Amino acid sequence: MISDCYSNLSQVLDESWRLMKLGVTDRRHGFHNPVVATIGLDGRPRARTVILRGADSENGNIIFHTDLRSDKVTELKNNPHISMHFYDTASKTQIRIEGIANLHVQNDYAKKRWNESQRMSRMCYSVQPSPGTEIVMSDSYSMMDATTVLPQEQEDHFNNFTVVDIKINTLEWLFLAFKGHKRARFGWLDNNLNKQSWLVP
Ligand SMILES: Cc1cc2nc3c(=O)[nH]c(=O)nc-3n(C[C@H](O)[C@H](O)[C@H](O)COP(=O)(O)O)c2cc1C
Repeated sequence: MISDCYSNLSQVLDESWRLMKLGVTDRRHGFHNPVVATIGLDGRPRARTVILRGADSENGNIIFHTDLRSDKVTELKNNPHISMHFYDTASKTQIRIEGIANLHVQNDYAKKRWNESQRMSRMCYSVQPSPGTEIVMSDSYSMMDATTVLPQEQEDHFNNFTVVDIKINTLEWLFLAFKGHKRARFGWLDNNLNKQSWLVP
C-alpha cells in the first residue's frame, strides 16, 4: 500500500510499477489512459491521450500502439524524446516519465503485438485517408468493418500498425496526501537505476 511507501524510495518505485501494470490490465484504472507528449516539428509541445499497452519493470519500458501515418510518429522520427503523464484519482498518484521512443513497424515484435490485439482495435489502422487529414465532412473517411473484413485486408492494415516502446530515463512520482504531499524522482542510465531522491512536492 502507498502508506507503507512514505519513507522508502524502493517501495515507491515498486508501487509506481504496480500502478502502471494495473493500468495495462485494468481498463477502469486511472493509468489506463495516459497522456503522451512529443515535440512538434515546429518545436512546440504536442500532447494526446493513448491507451497504455505495456509496462515492463525489468527492462524499464512503457508501450503504446499507434498509426504509422499519425503526426506523433512523424514527430518521434524527428525527435525521439518523449514524455508520458499518468494520474489516478483513486490512489491520488501522478507519475511522469521521460524517455526515448523506439518505433516497431513491420517487424517480429510488432507482429506479435498485432496478433495479440483485438480485432476491433486492428480496424483503426484501416482508416483512409491518413489520420489527421483535413476532410470536407465529418464522415468523409472510411474504415473497415471488423465483421466483414478479410484476413488479407487485415494484413494490409498491419503495415500501419506501430508499437511505440519508451525506454524510461526518468520517473517522477507525486502522491497527494492530507498530511503532506510526497514526491520522488528516479533516473536510469544504461538500464541501471543511477539516481533516486525525494523532492519537495
Ligand atoms: C481514450 C482515448 C484513447 C486513445 N488511445 C490512443 C492510442 O492508444 N493510440 C493512438 O495513436 N491514439 C489514441 N487516441 C487518439 C489520440 O489521443 C490522438 O487524437 C490521435 O492519436 C492523433 O494524435 P496525433 O495527431 O498527435 O498523432 C486516444 C484517444 C482517446 C480519447
